[in-house]
Amino acid sequence: MSDPRPAPDPGDRAAPAQVAELERIARDLAVEAGRIVRDERPRDLAVSTKSSRTDVVTVMDAAAETHLRERLAQLRPQDAVYGEEGGARAGRSDLTWVLDPIDGTVNYLYGIEEYAVSVAVVVGDPGVHGAWRPVAGAVAHPAAGLVYSAHEGGGARVSASQDWSVLAREAAAHGVTSQTGVTSRDLATTRPDTLELALLGTGFGYRPEVRRDQARRLVHLLPRVRDIRRGGSAALDLCAVAAGRLDAYYERGVHSWDIAAGWLLVTEAGGIVSGVEGSRPDAHGTVAAGPGVHAELRELLRGLPE
Ligand code: IPD
Repeated sequence: MSDPRPAPDPGDRAAPAQVAELERIARDLAVEAGRIVRDERPRDLAVSTKSSRTDVVTVMDAAAETHLRERLAQLRPQDAVYGEEGGARAGRSDLTWVLDPIDGTVNYLYGIEEYAVSVAVVVGDPGVHGAWRPVAGAVAHPAAGLVYSAHEGGGARVSASQDWSVLAREAAAHGVTSQTGVTSRDLATTRPDTLELALLGTGFGYRPEVRRDQARRLVHLLPRVRDIRRGGSAALDLCAVAAGRLDAYYERGVHSWDIAAGWLLVTEAGGIVSGVEGSRPDAHGTVAAGPGVHAELRELLRGLPE
């Protein structure tokens, strides 16, 4: 049966009070799922594969996404849900929750701390490039005990979660520490004005043919930037751009659940997020950076041979 309501225009703005409340929900849920992922990890982590033999999903991805879906069914039953592991659930409102229960799954599998839970709420269709935009979201970094969050028009921040034992080393490095009572800090992107001095984060897909293409582009990028980092979680890479620990991020082939919350974190921290061709992340890639280098990076990417 067709839906009689007009499709929401992803350009329409939501009311400020509503998006602030959505940020609070996103933050709470990301922290809850992060605690499950961090604290309930079994000794023998059961793993299966998806698009290739290296594209893994663990029992904890499934457990965290199930938790997020159950909580959203209680708190926001009217909204749609679009998750990495559980697919799409239709809703009756204009909003869709976009969930990545563990972003950086390979890091998680290997016991590397750079993994995250990403929870975002978007308008438009997150399954179609250019047809959606985030209005609130949060990225929990469970190993650090930190959560990054933002809502449209309300800035971006990183907080030491009161529910977690925050690692003092990590918190201090991020400018927040529960010991000194400073538990939250506003985020701002960096301001290098030339790509030559920009530290660029990127990532690679799981399919060999995608990687071959990514490696070919890297050959053109690497000589033009300060250096390149591959952290293993697109969501945390975008948090790093928002927090000024990376100057820019580019990746081709990410999914909406990898970038939905991080995209908003960057723009609310004063940066710009676009596609390579379009004004929103597109099939050619996601480009995120401070205003000083975004245009230069995008022009470089546009000029690369297909
Ligand atoms: C992956 C990570 C990685 C990026 C990949 C993503 P997953 O997500 O974000 O950094 O390079 O493109 O697929 O599989 O860990 O959720």
